[in-house]
Amino acid sequence: MALPQGFLDELRDRVSVSSMVGRRHALIRKGREFVSLCPFHSDSKPSLNIVDDKGFYHCFACGAHGDVIKFVMETEGLSFMEAIEQLAGVAGMEVPKETPEERQRAERTRSLQEVVDLACRWYERQLRTSIGDAGLRYLRERGLTEETIARFRLGWAPDDRKALQRAMKAEGVEVDILVEAGLVKRYDDGETGDYMRGRVLFPITDRRGKVIAFGGRVLGDGQPKYLNSPDTPLFHKGRVLYGLAQAREAAHKSGTLVVAEGYMDVIALAQVGIPSVAPLGTALTEDQIAELWKVVPEPVVCFDGDTAGQRAAARACDRALPMLTPGHSLRFIVLPEGEDPDSLTRRDGPSGFRRLLEAAEPLVDRLWATEATAGPVDTPERRADFWRRVRERIRVIADRTVQQSYSDEIEARIEAMRPSRQNRSDGGRSAGRGTFRDGKWTPPPVEPPGSRASRARVDTALGQRQQQIILATVIHHPGLLDELGETLAHLELGDQFLDKLRREILEITEADPDLDAAGLTDHLKALGYSDTVNGLLGAEALSHAAFARPSATHSEARAGLIELVARVGRGRLERQLAEARRIAEESMTEADMDRMMGLRKALQQITVGASLEDAE
Ligand code: UTP
Ligand code: MN
Repeated sequence: MALPQGFLDELRDRVSVSSMVGRRHALIRKGREFVSLCPFHSDSKPSLNIVDDKGFYHCFACGAHGDVIKFVMETEGLSFMEAIEQLAGVAGMEVPKETPEERQRAERTRSLQEVVDLACRWYERQLRTSIGDAGLRYLRERGLTEETIARFRLGWAPDDRKALQRAMKAEGVEVDILVEAGLVKRYDDGETGDYMRGRVLFPITDRRGKVIAFGGRVLGDGQPKYLNSPDTPLFHKGRVLYGLAQAREAAHKSGTLVVAEGYMDVIALAQVGIPSVAPLGTALTEDQIAELWKVVPEPVVCFDGDTAGQRAAARACDRALPMLTPGHSLRFIVLPEGEDPDSLTRRDGPSGFRRLLEAAEPLVDRLWATEATAGPVDTPERRADFWRRVRERIRVIADRTVQQSYSDEIEARIEAMRPSRQNRSDGGRSAGRGTFRDGKWTPPPVEPPGSRASRARVDTALGQRQQQIILATVIHHPGLLDELGETLAHLELGDQFLDKLRREILEITEADPDLDAAGLTDHLKALGYSDTVNGLLGAEALSHAAFARPSATHSEARAGLIELVARVGRGRLERQLAEARRIAEESMTEADMDRMMGLRKALQQITVGASLEDAE
């Protein structure tokens, strides 16, 4: 059970660290602080500092550090909840229980979801009856295979005011819950009617694949062409991406994810093996962009070439700009007017679309082009105005490094645009910079193989193998985390998918420290990491590292992991620690101290471990 933050804060307020330390050792006042003997190592002179104002203790001799809760846990060997119970007793507070309302709400959500799924199954069956025959023919005419229809669970809503209600009633589902689930509409006069009627249905799922709503398309020219379920406790239009559950694994693995405009685009792309998602008839929201970035670093936005599509792309660019972080961006494909991914893939198959994907524009080009084509830039004043607008726009980027990087790029382009410099680069002197001519930017040439840039990529590939070995060892021997958990917690991996997996492993094993290899693997698969885990454990890389295999003994795995982590991670951990120390010394806040101590412990783990190995 999660405790409310307010409760923990109040608990820490009410029970000072010094009062708990004072139960074991004499306290000596030192200004606003106390010192005492440290219970975490054999202490001869008081080296435990207690800062009640900030609610933490810190031992300058052994590095023990924490708040009052941690103090009780560690000195009395209690679990977190046991320590909380004890402290609440001291403070005279009640530990909050999950309220009946909270429990009720959770149950309600579960049953709503079951009802929506039941309806989905019924709609799927309708598509296979004579009532739904027109719908099925329509989908086949649009080129969808049986497999695709089944995979996306497409269905048919009969053109009948009460068909769903009747069917659900026979299953014992009352109309009130159908209304709450957005499946049935209640009119002002109290009458009710099915929400979707005479439409092909596209079930909308959450990221795990649970159906939460529907999109429905009329067969003919009726209006509206597409109708979405209303927002319900399960479904918030702006937070959901159509097709995410189906696209996630493949996108994750391939690094490619297309953001298309509509249902049929997503399905047509999926059918030719290109993972894609779509917002639900609205502009991309921040929530949706964040969701995309959880799957791939650079999703490719692909909207129609018409004005509406282009405006939507420009809006996506606006939304993403403030949110950019190192490595995360959007790319853009502009389609020929009148085409969409559905029509293109149906005509040319995947190959043409894949070429478009490879040539997708980076966001910076999109931004530059939008302003460059807003009007002519043929006089000094107009050029200056253009430069001002571009500089203005990148100011919204919140991440400082990314903003600086944009600024460098924009300034280089502006430099190349200056008439006098233009002449010079014609003479070939600024080849590293790229050129600007006729409103179009030409980037500098790519460095040839063997150059510095291509060597850097090779290094990264090498890192990839080591990253795989580290994770495989941990998955096969989760017991190692008892000792090396702290190290792994600070060892960020360069490959973002592997890094996500690393964090997931830490979370799972923290919640359940006794998990064995099989249990951990099952857990990861249940969370949707099957492909990543299978790929990782089957990786060719493991043939280079016997200690990563399940057959290795605990001590072989331990020695191998420590050696590898020390080799690839020590330098980085040392740099992180130096930086963390500087920050902690300045701020003296608990969070910063915690981070510093964590890093120190991480470094100790591999240093001590490695030197023991050396000694053997
Ligand atoms: P389009 O009109 O381009 O539809 O709307 P489409 O996806 O090409 O549909 P088909 O190929 O004719 O079946 C693009 C998207 O905008 C939303 C839908 O998500 C649609 O897929 N939309 C469109 C609506 O929500 N309501 C509408 O009435 C029309
Ligand atoms: Mn279309």
